[in-house]
Amino acid sequence: MAFPNHIRLVEMSPRDGLQNEPGDVIATAIKTGLIDRLSDCGLSHIEAASFVSPKWVPQMADGAEVMAGIKRRPGVRYSVLTPNLKGFENALAAGADEVAVFGAASESFSQKNINCSVAESLERFQPVMEAAQKAGIQVRGYVSTVLGCPYEGEIAPEKVATVARALLDMGCYEISLGDTIGVGTPLKAKRMLEAVAKQVPMERLAAHFHDTYGQALANLYAVVEEGVAVIDSSVAGLGGCPYAKGASGNVATEDVLYLLNGLGIETGVDLDKLVATGNWISQQLKRRNGSKVGQAMSV
Ligand code: HMG
Ligand code: MG
Repeated sequence: MAFPNHIRLVEMSPRDGLQNEPGDVIATAIKTGLIDRLSDCGLSHIEAASFVSPKWVPQMADGAEVMAGIKRRPGVRYSVLTPNLKGFENALAAGADEVAVFGAASESFSQKNINCSVAESLERFQPVMEAAQKAGIQVRGYVSTVLGCPYEGEIAPEKVATVARALLDMGCYEISLGDTIGVGTPLKAKRMLEAVAKQVPMERLAAHFHDTYGQALANLYAVVEEGVAVIDSSVAGLGGCPYAKGASGNVATEDVLYLLNGLGIETGVDLDKLVATGNWISQQLKRRNGSKVGQAMSV
């Protein structure tokens, strides 16, 4: 076992966490309040908003206001999702530090999520990559449905590897592997990672696991053991993808942090403050805190 000394947590809650929240559109002040609390916890990378079509994802329509309203903490990277050049231009104008393009290993999911094939999505990302390079902005790449698709079921690890490699080749500095619907199990996660790591260096990979079936922590343990040192997670386990039926939240950041603290892996994040933040946002959204650690530390 060779665990890394340090793991970078990429906080997803303001974007992946809130994009699928049912009911009224969440007030911008709640979003900025969440982001500022997260940066105060010591998180150094926060996905703050999406610059996607507001018709597709109404909860993320106020991305520019969110970016304008946050208190920028020095040393924190505030990244945003950009599906196309229009999204990139809006993100740049709003002052995003970094952007992310998002593709899928499954054709059907790509159609439902971004209304085009996997190959077309990669073509659409090309002008984003060029514009980002000109503007000196780093681009992260997501591959969704790496451990299963809500429409196609099983996904071949080789298909994940091909898309991940294409994103790397077009200039993404990091590729985040998304178990969008949280159906993976540890051995499957390891096998998928093995296939991808033949195409993309391990230090360029991140794990983005949703927790629908309660396997996300086990899956993370498995891939961290293999050398993954970047984990995407969401405080209070918020979230889900609007185009992946039944998908629940990301693995809870509090739960990941508790695991990593137990393994002696350093993250720079304060667990007490994180638990308080998870409780705060759960209260704002009037939902139960989805983090087991958050619940346990709040009794
Ligand atoms: P489309 O309808 O094919 O695109 O959508 P279009 O180019 O024909 O545009 C349609 C309308 O949207 C036009 O407006 C455009 O101007 C506008 P109209 O003329 O009808 O008034 N538009 C935009 N507006 C603002 N910002 C933009 C933008 N682009 C077009 N960037 C499109 C294609 C990609 C835009 C659409 O499908 C979309 O926005 N999809 C986003 C879906 C999404 O955000 N999904 C959730 C995030 S992904 C995720 O959660 C997975 C992840 O967490 C990893 C994992 O868990 O696996 C990352
Ligand atoms: Mg996700």
